[in-house]
Amino acid sequence: MGAKTNHDKFKSDGSLAGNALEWVDARFPAMSLWRDHLAEYYAPKNFNFWYYFGSLAIVVLAIQLITGIFLVMFYKPDASLNAAGVPVAFASVEYIMRDVNFGWIIRYMHSTGASAFFIVVYLHMFRGMMYGSYRKPRELIWIFGTLIYLVLMAEAFMGYLLPWGQMSFWGAQVIVNLFSAIPLIGEPLSIWIRGDYVIGDATLNRFFSFHVIAIPFALVGLVVAHIMALHEVGSSNPDGIEIKDKVDDKGIPLDGIPFHPYYTVKDIVGVVVFLMVFFGIVFFAPEGGGYFLEYNNFFPADPLKTPPHIAPVWYFTPSYSILRSVTSDFVIVLQVCVAGLWLWLVRGTSDVKQVIITLAAVAIIVGMWAIDAKFWGVVAMGTSVLIIGFLPWLDRSPVRSIRYRGPIYKGFLTAFVIAFLTLGYLGTQPPSAIGGLVAQFFSLVYFAFFFLMPWYTKIDKCKPVPERVVYK
Ligand code: HEM
Repeated sequence: MGAKTNHDKFKSDGSLAGNALEWVDARFPAMSLWRDHLAEYYAPKNFNFWYYFGSLAIVVLAIQLITGIFLVMFYKPDASLNAAGVPVAFASVEYIMRDVNFGWIIRYMHSTGASAFFIVVYLHMFRGMMYGSYRKPRELIWIFGTLIYLVLMAEAFMGYLLPWGQMSFWGAQVIVNLFSAIPLIGEPLSIWIRGDYVIGDATLNRFFSFHVIAIPFALVGLVVAHIMALHEVGSSNPDGIEIKDKVDDKGIPLDGIPFHPYYTVKDIVGVVVFLMVFFGIVFFAPEGGGYFLEYNNFFPADPLKTPPHIAPVWYFTPSYSILRSVTSDFVIVLQVCVAGLWLWLVRGTSDVKQVIITLAAVAIIVGMWAIDAKFWGVVAMGTSVLIIGFLPWLDRSPVRSIRYRGPIYKGFLTAFVIAFLTLGYLGTQPPSAIGGLVAQFFSLVYFAFFFLMPWYTKIDKCKPVPERVVYK
């Protein structure tokens, strides 16, 4: 990004609009922002289908913020019962659906938007994994992305309590109770989070506050940071080739094209197709087959009646399956895995590192034996999300893109996708003996993808990477 001198300033052509723009540009970097981030932001010319999901995530974020503003005008975060004996919060959502003009479409856009957000973000992250978009120098884009993912989960979790249905109540009860598995501080911590001994009015009010103010601010801030970091280093592409390495005499990448108009127009096509599918769901299948809006959430929260099967919404179910798969028997398998990892890590390192690794391994193995499996389930669930942020340092391949990687990486990535989908499916189902075993197996596959990555990306046979990007 060049220095903003007067030389860069916009000069009016004498028209009214031109004069107005010159006035603004003399006081605010309007034109340099436009140039740096759109008209003269050179993006690789070979973006494909997978590059739609970043801009689509921005579209869904906008949908959520705008529909959210309108919902808040009519929603009431109040767990007390009204004259008809229905919780006020639940009744206010019914009021939005039945009596508020266009309330139903606003609410269905928001509830469908939540699922759409995760679909888009999962595909966006998968693109990053396929093309190695997280590799140097894009580590910080990836870290901001992982934080966005974490914050998005918190946003969805707190939002889900607001309709105060049976699943809102019992889902929150189960998840907040997980904190009580932390040794010593767990119990007071979970009471502190709830503001009560059970999920109650205090919980509803604080979740509302976080859902509509604190977390959206954090989310928008992180998205801005994500895109600033992206524009600092420039976009990667399906070949994983650094286009800035080959520039013309003006310093413009040979394989780059201005983001505007080329990608603004291309992204509009993606947005139109996305909105067609999105509104198809909003109009014809807003419940998403019970996955987007769960059957049990059409009943008001009843603290005295536990639903027979409590499952989180689909986008949490891969992590939820991992949580459920850590039983006291499975902890033994995990101890063996930690011992194996220790054996592998201590080979050929310095004495100091050997001592540190050994102490850490012993602490984890003894801890697994001493502390309840529920706690290790929570640790495994947390690790399954946080580990994503470490991909830039776990991946040791000489190439970035899947196009030039060898069969081992492709095999592991395929196994990871199968594990993710299977865990997601199993998490929506009631616990069963066979389902539990399958979930345990795929939890191991999920973690193997990450923990074994430094090894298999190093030994894989990669193909030569071309000098310039491939564009057909
Ligand atoms: C609200 C959520 C998000 C928004 C609005 C967003 C937005 C964007 C946009 C507009 C781009 C540039 C266009 C593109 O490459 O598709 C981008 C790139 C990128 N995003 Fe995100 N993103 C989000 C979440 C995430 C998450 C959760 C991750 C990963 C954990 C992530 C990782 C990346 C990476 C690595 C790139 C660079 C891709 C490249 O240069 O090849 N993003 N993001």
